[in-house]
Amino acid sequence: MYFPVSRLRRTRQNEKLRKMVRETYLQVDKFISPLFVVEGNKIKKEITTLPGQYHFSLDMLVREVEDLKKIGIPAVLLFGIPDKKDEIGSGAYDNKGIVQEAVRLIKKKVPEMMVITDVCLCEYTSHGHCGLIKSQATSHKSQVYEVDNDASLELIAKTALSHAEAGADMVAPSDMMDGRIGAIRSTLDDSGLSNIPIMSYSVKYASAFYGPFREAAGSTPQFGDRRSYQMDSSNAQEALREVMQDLDEGADIIMVKPALSYLDIVKKVKSDFDVPVAAYNVSGEYAMVKAAAMKGWIDEKSITLEILTSIRRAGADIIITYHAKDAAKWLKEEA
Ligand code: PBG
Repeated sequence: MYFPVSRLRRTRQNEKLRKMVRETYLQVDKFISPLFVVEGNKIKKEITTLPGQYHFSLDMLVREVEDLKKIGIPAVLLFGIPDKKDEIGSGAYDNKGIVQEAVRLIKKKVPEMMVITDVCLCEYTSHGHCGLIKSQATSHKSQVYEVDNDASLELIAKTALSHAEAGADMVAPSDMMDGRIGAIRSTLDDSGLSNIPIMSYSVKYASAFYGPFREAAGSTPQFGDRRSYQMDSSNAQEALREVMQDLDEGADIIMVKPALSYLDIVKKVKSDFDVPVAAYNVSGEYAMVKAAAMKGWIDEKSITLEILTSIRRAGADIIITYHAKDAAKWLKEEA
């Protein structure tokens, strides 16, 4: 007869013991809730591809932010969906743009809420790309186009500046142009905004998991795809170079996105650099859970908490998730 030397089950006998040896905890202080803001009035319209998430007009947005504050969510990440788009994404850096107005309003009505803004052109460009398009005239026919890195930098920096000037507490560039962190940092510093942190979407993969978001934001590229600027999902080494570059240029928080299929990257970034790491539990990851839950195939609460815990266990300090509000409620119930 063989008897085990180590009885690991000893510390699993009851909940008191299990809690005592528990290594990872979820805390509401670590959640960021993404929010979509649209133009108009009295709009709170559920997003088909993201059940439980909404398009909010400014008035309704404030109510939602108040609710989030009440359950302890410390921060929101704003995405703007303008009525009008153009080739150069003017709405992104318009001082009276939808996000700029949303920031001003939230900071006025719910000043305790930390407001983070997604800095990108894709929701504002008619072509749906995250930067400017070179030689656009021929691009639609021939499918030959280039997203112009250096020309886009100025507009990206201008967008970040307009958000910070409106009162944003932090900016989060998601465009994946090279050099954007440096461009934003120096632009903010030159304008006396050296205290505004940058949470960089440093490791952002070209991912099919963004599908539901693009439906929600109307930011699907009208031609081509994002693979010339977002990372190839096969690469891990390259992710570390992205992180190194962003840290050198002045990023304060490093984001990995998506989260679940890239937990190895979260872990590697955390262990190699030991800087604050955020993971973005993206729209496709959320939509899959919601769809299965709506079918009655899974238990939404336990699956969600297990998923979020796994992201923390991998090394993420911060989790950006559409589950934030529900998870905060569940954590409160259990406390
Ligand atoms: C904008 C942006 C995207 C997401 C966050 N910022 C879309 C994209 O890159 O196509 C995706 C978020 C999600 O899927 O939840 N560049």
